[in-house]
Amino acid sequence: MIRTEQSHAKYELARKYLAGGVASSLRASMKPVPIYVQSAEGARIRDVDGNEYIDYMLAYGPLILGHAHDELTTAIHQAMRKGYTYGLQHEGEIGLARLLTELLPCAEKVALSGSGTEAVMLALRLARAYTGKRKIVRFHGHYHGWSDSIFTSFPGAGLQGNDERAATSVLPGTSGQSAGSLEDVILLPWNDPIALESALRAYSGEIAALISEPVMCNSGCILPKPGYMELMQRLTKELGIVWILDEVITGFRLSIGGAHQRFGLDPDLVTIGKAMGGGIAISAVAGKATIMNLIDEGTVSHLGTLNGNCVSTAAAIATIGELVKDHGSAYTRMERLFTVLASGIRELLNKHGLPGLINQTGPVFHMMFTDEQEVTDFAAFNNRDGAKYTRFAEVMLSEGVLIRPNGLWYISTVHDDKDVQETLHAVDRSLAKLVD
Ligand SMILES: Cc1ncc(COP(=O)(O)O)c(C=O)c1O
Repeated sequence: MIRTEQSHAKYELARKYLAGGVASSLRASMKPVPIYVQSAEGARIRDVDGNEYIDYMLAYGPLILGHAHDELTTAIHQAMRKGYTYGLQHEGEIGLARLLTELLPCAEKVALSGSGTEAVMLALRLARAYTGKRKIVRFHGHYHGWSDSIFTSFPGAGLQGNDERAATSVLPGTSGQSAGSLEDVILLPWNDPIALESALRAYSGEIAALISEPVMCNSGCILPKPGYMELMQRLTKELGIVWILDEVITGFRLSIGGAHQRFGLDPDLVTIGKAMGGGIAISAVAGKATIMNLIDEGTVSHLGTLNGNCVSTAAAIATIGELVKDHGSAYTRMERLFTVLASGIRELLNKHGLPGLINQTGPVFHMMFTDEQEVTDFAAFNNRDGAKYTRFAEVMLSEGVLIRPNGLWYISTVHDDKDVQETLHAVDRSLAKLVD
């Protein structure tokens, strides 16, 4: 067991003043207690009880350069010395927007916001304004932020994953959500070409946008079946539907140009966030000028007090600057290390006789305990043993490794072979404890 007295005490104190005790609801699920951080550097994070962990949670994805990266920290300091935010224009926003149009294949123009949720809200608004239609198609198991317009149950209050209704009903993601907010949402199973084509053809006259993660990172890191995204692309183009790829996770993580570059896709709009800012709040919508021009014309409002502030644009430019160095060799390195880690964990699962699997796409993977031989859709994903994984994450913490209790692992450019070997030893000991 690790010492957690200080974290426990701080969590109790926080609950007196901070609603939920944490700043974002998901964080409360950490066992044995939400951990309080003392400091962090590189791939390591230290808590207030003196424990040190190798970090694969990486703040839910943004820390692609690890913690307190020298060049990024310097860029932020330099920007701050000239003021934090002006509410006026500055070169950083032009520089970043231009960089994004150069690096993202689909980007002719971009708009900057503060979070992935906001980027998705803007993309949906642009799509509705552009098409004059109302409905939005989204997929079960995907997550597109917590705004009323798109936040659905995950997998559904009171519904088990393999319950038929979990795949078909559009239930709000939280109480307090406006009753009408999801009226225009059509929820489909993902990776099901027949369901996709029949819904799009049936409702094409009403559908403004189809939004999809390019890899279902939020539920099992599941790759699209061969031809599935191409079908999405073909049908949306044919039927006059705006195709939004939500690259908030995959942007600047799967490659410099995100998943759409990696897979050779041509979405109308992409939303990016997380890794783009290296840990500083920034997001963007990027895409076809014909759609983005609605903002130029004043037809679509895009607002936000802190949008494109000089600290966040400097952070994004510095982060991207690090990622493009040496022709993006950091991606090859991250992918190699994660492949070593994933294969090592698979061997250890075998060694301990624990059925489980890992779905890896480059520098992100999902580990789960399951009897399934492969997990290629949301229904199969829901057959995993989530409770066992949460226990595993807790044991891993006591072995010096920080992972999300839900199974998704991220790697950064500063993790190295030694971290991976240390992690494999920790996995070995943790699985042994799980079997006991
Ligand atoms: C695919 C996807 N879209 C949107 C969001 C929302 O981003 P944010 O948490 O920055 O609002 C997330 C967050 O995890 C995400 O994974």
